[in-house]
Amino acid sequence: MASETLTVTDNRTGKMYEIPITLGSIGTMDLRKIRTGPEDFGLLGYDPAFVNTASTRSAITYIDGDRGILWYRGYPIEQLAEQASYLEVAYLLIYGELPTAKALEQWTWQITHHTWVHENLKKFMDGFHHDAHTMSMLISSVAALSTFYPDAKVSRESGHVDLQTYRLIAKMPTLAAFAYRHRLGQPYVYPDNDLSYTGNFLNMLFRATELKYKPEPALERALDVLFILHADHEQNCSTNAMRSVASSGVDPYSATAAAMAALYGPLHGGANEAVLRMLRTVGSTARVPAFIKQVKAGEAKLMGFGHRVYKNYDPRARIIKRLADEVFAVTRPSPLLSVALELERIALEDEYFVSRKLYPNVDFYSGLIYEAMGLPVEMFPVLFAIPRTAGWLAQWREMLADPEQKIARPRQIYTGPARRDLLPLGARV
Ligand code: ACO
Repeated sequence: MASETLTVTDNRTGKMYEIPITLGSIGTMDLRKIRTGPEDFGLLGYDPAFVNTASTRSAITYIDGDRGILWYRGYPIEQLAEQASYLEVAYLLIYGELPTAKALEQWTWQITHHTWVHENLKKFMDGFHHDAHTMSMLISSVAALSTFYPDAKVSRESGHVDLQTYRLIAKMPTLAAFAYRHRLGQPYVYPDNDLSYTGNFLNMLFRATELKYKPEPALERALDVLFILHADHEQNCSTNAMRSVASSGVDPYSATAAAMAALYGPLHGGANEAVLRMLRTVGSTARVPAFIKQVKAGEAKLMGFGHRVYKNYDPRARIIKRLADEVFAVTRPSPLLSVALELERIALEDEYFVSRKLYPNVDFYSGLIYEAMGLPVEMFPVLFAIPRTAGWLAQWREMLADPEQKIARPRQIYTGPARRDLLPLGARV
């Protein structure tokens, strides 16, 4: 039987080393023993942007990027999107199993009864400029939650970790809706406990003078499915930020704000906003070929295309594309849908995109749905951050329980000047 080891010869010294292979990986700490002499620090792995470095073992989300597969705790994303609710999926990510009917009832009760935020948070929100970006307001107000729950800094007991989990999942839609209403100069709407997680979110966004807001069932379900699709995606940029920041022992509100900041960038959760702006700039199907030419010349990026892990069609994009039709049946169809379909059609046939394995990702069609629901582009990253909170918290909790994890602290390869002595100001040239 073949041995599960890697044999390496250091040609600088002629020495051979045997390195164990575990679960398809080598521990880079095993490279340290490869040294030219006692003064040598030992070999490091060099991997800017963690392209081929696993930072953790994780039992939460599985992606096979070549085959376009995504599972949460072993369940295919297609089945979850079809048969489960977002709150069931959030429970699954956090606790590892789908809830029983009783557990779901308790979990839903906890989330529903933690949606209120301290009244001072409204004053805090009021301090933002009228045209502040909703994602910036949300990041800041989630960070501000840590000032209301200082106990979250000290306790990591399981009941207490659960309490922070309920609070974050429950309050995120409230703060997001407050940020949205602040931008419009409209009064904040308080949560309605009779409604579902997404139904209540729509209520807090859109309720006007009616005594009871009734969410449109097709939109409520569509939002729920979008939330399921965005709930986790293993060690992406924002999840890595969550784990890295939380590894210092900081409270989960501060760590979640850091994860949200990472999500905000246009290469990550800000891509859905960038996609819509791009579709608006392209404007019509007639202008698609000219835009593709610009992309191929490196003058523009086809936002919503490409992924670090998927080198095949993103399974979430497939589900969202179908969902878009269901949403457009109850809203007016998006005039930009034809532009998106034409961009996708050309890109999937073009050698530039084919050879680089660039396919639509989760963000290519989600913005069109959000726009049809009446949401402005500034809300798109927010609509990503709300459901991803469950994923961030699941990853945080897994990290807390993992004895191999410590404060995250990468190494560097120093390329600066060798030691030198400073000259007095007058002697410098
Ligand atoms: N449009 C045009 N060319 C692209 C695109 C794109 N969207 N994405 C990648 N490429 C090209 C690159 O220029 C590069 O070409 P080269 O080999 O000739 O230099 C090649 O494809 C490989 O791309 P990388 O940037 O090396 O791939 P990486 O894994 O680092 O980046 C990323 C992945 C950031 C997602 C990238 O594809 C991108 O910028 N896409 C657009 C933004 C986007 O949609 N982000 C959302 C990702 S999904 C999410 O976060 C939820």
